[in-house]
Amino acid sequence: MQATQEPAPARKKVIFSAIQPSGTITLGNYLGAIKNWVALQDEYRCIFALADLHTITVRQEPAKFRQNTLQAYALLLACGIDVTKSLFFIQSHVHTHAELAWILNCYTQFGELSRMTQFKDKSAAHADNVNAGLFTYPSLMAADILLYQADLVPVGLDQKQHLELTRNIAERFNGIYGATFTVPDAYIPKTGAKIMSLQEPGKKMSKSDENANAWVAVLDKPEDILRKFKRAVTDSEAKVRYAEGKDGINNLMGIYAAVTGKTFEQIEAEFDGKGYGDFKVAVAEAVIESLRPVQAEYNRLIADKAYLEQCYTESARQALAISRRTVEKAMRKIGFVKSAL
Ligand code: TRP
Repeated sequence: MQATQEPAPARKKVIFSAIQPSGTITLGNYLGAIKNWVALQDEYRCIFALADLHTITVRQEPAKFRQNTLQAYALLLACGIDVTKSLFFIQSHVHTHAELAWILNCYTQFGELSRMTQFKDKSAAHADNVNAGLFTYPSLMAADILLYQADLVPVGLDQKQHLELTRNIAERFNGIYGATFTVPDAYIPKTGAKIMSLQEPGKKMSKSDENANAWVAVLDKPEDILRKFKRAVTDSEAKVRYAEGKDGINNLMGIYAAVTGKTFEQIEAEFDGKGYGDFKVAVAEAVIESLRPVQAEYNRLIADKAYLEQCYTESARQALAISRRTVEKAMRKIGFVKSAL
């Protein structure tokens, strides 16, 4: 008699992504990236990190840096990153990232790194501190991804070139030594909200914008959110509709759609015959309502440092166990003498 066998469960695809804990998390980060991460957690094996090693490529004030990292951790948990489903750790706690980054540096060409547009932009912005880490930043990012044999990486447009380089490094290494790293693909979310500046809606919303009215932070107070939306730049047509040349209104509609789940047609119908003043207040109120539970949960979590420590430590422990296998495999193939430690 033949033994009946349960079919093996299909392996979930692995997703890796990371965000830098370099300060405030904006509404743009939340709607454009973090909400997508949260939605992926059931369907995929998700591994998320706070990329604090990347953050020190720009000089940080120690106390502020430590505080930013803990706050970002608490805030992402508050947004819905769930450590019972996903791994979510602090990059510097998992030493394999720095180790594999060094190794990959030796398989990355100077010319390739020189072509990275982010390096060119950042070295212009921080001309007094064009350090080697800023230059080799993409090899560390490649290590982050390749350590977990990630299949998919959700990244914004600004990181696509780095992901392309990661693929080249992985293919080059595999070409020399045989299959070692999974070559990752970009993950393009089905619905991705790209949130633009409230003051110059042709530009992405960014916390480095000098005009504080241009961006909303996830932890902003309701009255500040309302004020910023009331001041948002629109156009002179005074009709809520999605159309080319109406960047300001298109952006507000995108934000309203992302927080309420309404379609653009529904939004146009809802504000038919109403002015921009009403619309801006409605968008602000919807944003305030959607952030209210996130802010409440953040306030609870940030007061519980022991719980945060437990979460990031347990995730780091598991991340180390997974990533160590990849580093050992790569080192064996290169020809390092196996350490007995
Ligand atoms: N460089 C990314 C950013 O600044 C953050 C990051 C670090 C990352 N490592 C990564 C993103 C690996 C995706 C995959 O946005």
